[in-house]
Amino acid sequence: MADFVTRLVGVSNQHALEIPRQLGAAGGTERAMVRAGRIRTAPCYREARAVAWTGMDSAATEARRQAPLSHDDTHDASYGRAVDPSPTPSTERTPVTVPTIRAAKGSVPLVMVTAYDATFARILDEAGADLLLVGDSLGMVIQGNADTLGVTVDDIVYHCRAVARGARRAHVVGDMPFLSYQVTPEEALRNAGRILAQGRAHSVKLEGGQVMAPTIARLVAAGIPVMAHVGLTPQSVHAMGGFRVQGREREDAERILADAHAVADAGAYALVLEGIPGELAARITADVAIPTIGIGAGVECDGQVLVCYDLLGLTADLRPKFVKRYEQLFDRGVAAAREFCSEVRARRFPGPEHTFAGRKGPRAVVSAG
Ligand code: KIV
Repeated sequence: MADFVTRLVGVSNQHALEIPRQLGAAGGTERAMVRAGRIRTAPCYREARAVAWTGMDSAATEARRQAPLSHDDTHDASYGRAVDPSPTPSTERTPVTVPTIRAAKGSVPLVMVTAYDATFARILDEAGADLLLVGDSLGMVIQGNADTLGVTVDDIVYHCRAVARGARRAHVVGDMPFLSYQVTPEEALRNAGRILAQGRAHSVKLEGGQVMAPTIARLVAAGIPVMAHVGLTPQSVHAMGGFRVQGREREDAERILADAHAVADAGAYALVLEGIPGELAARITADVAIPTIGIGAGVECDGQVLVCYDLLGLTADLRPKFVKRYEQLFDRGVAAAREFCSEVRARRFPGPEHTFAGRKGPRAVVSAG
């Protein structure tokens, strides 16, 4: 069996030894183990498993079983290879939960990064991000709009599902889009429920302070953990007259402080502070019992969040002051794609190492003469 899976999936021997055990496990148990990070899966493995479990494609499966093991790729049944992911100690993969996030208040800073798909979720989770926010910033960085207002609950559900598949340890937060929670607390409950039930997020985030307190209390009472968001609230871009730092004047700062207290009292488990002076963020952080996660709010918060496209330097034209770019992936991506264009045009790609060989001898695809 191990041999068969090795040939079918192209995984390492050590990994292959684990797979028969996984195949023998009941589906629910296996899914639970995958969720808990005890079994690692790769797309090719999942396909192999589907074949093995359902008996789909049984002729092809039998042919592969009969085929001798060989380094010759004419017998390699896999279209691509599943690579054994880098080992991460299971202690480091203990899932991040609402209680652990609450408990982080005043201790090691929390790290939140936005993510919109499974691949980025996987990268950021592997890097150790504690929370992955499926932010409505996807309206700007994924959909290319000038603001976040056009994002729908369906969009968030779709991207949450992808992120939830890529995340192993991180807590996944689904952002509630504009007008999905402002109309009535009941509508907010239905939409937040969808983000958890269909999107597989672990909690939701919504913008607003005192005015949102009853809605937060309603969701929390229904068992939906809520992350609040005050200060610069991008869904109010038109009311603010643009994406502007908030709370610079005393009156405005006092309102934001009151907002922070109101959402904490309503039961929010954490609070995003966006676009406010560092002193105000420090004061709020010292005052409220829940962790604050800052973006453009200085270093005194209990955690920090950045949009992944910003921190990786994927956004070409927007460079807000509060963003630090840890990579220049836009520039590097352009350079790599340029090289691809030129290799294709010069017929240097694909090379022999990227080209499949046909059968030799009497079963040859193309006759010798
Ligand atoms: O949508 C988003 O990405 C956000 C973060 C900037 C906090 O709300």
